[in-house]
Amino acid sequence: MHTIDWDRHTAELGYWLDSRAAGHGFASEAGRAIAQVAFELLGFARLDLRCHPDNARSLATAHRLGFTVHDREPDGTVDLRRLAAPGHCP
Ligand SMILES: CC(C)(COP(=O)(O)OP(=O)(O)OC[C@H]1O[C@@H](n2cnc3c(N)ncnc32)[C@H](O)[C@@H]1OP(=O)(O)O)[C@@H](O)C(=O)NCCC(=O)NCCS
Repeated sequence: MHTIDWDRHTAELGYWLDSRAAGHGFASEAGRAIAQVAFELLGFARLDLRCHPDNARSLATAHRLGFTVHDREPDGTVDLRRLAAPGHCP
């Protein structure tokens, strides 16, 4: 988690694995745990994630973690977003 805004309760999520560790669900497992801490423990309202449009593995992980496409930047970068669950009270 980076680019944390403690006033607005938002942050960006990023993940990077050694190539030998890919394909086992480790990034998804870690991402789920971090999202749980962000939303349930820290009361965050939103997590953002930026991804190159050709990075299929990263996009697949983002979707596995419940992120949906929010916007596309002029250079093609995909902006994804996951909001706190409805009814969540920070
Ligand atoms: C992006 C990145 C972290 C994705 O790694 P990953 O291992 O594919 O991600 P996940 O943890 O979501 O794992 C999913 C894979 O594990 C498999 N898997 C096995 N057990 C699993 C489990 N229990 N849960 C989920 N997936 C599981 C899935 O089938 C999938 O494999 P597949 O794509 O061959 O079908 C990795 O490719 C990477 O580090 N890339 C370089 C850095 C990068 O691009 N970072 C993102 C910048 S935006």
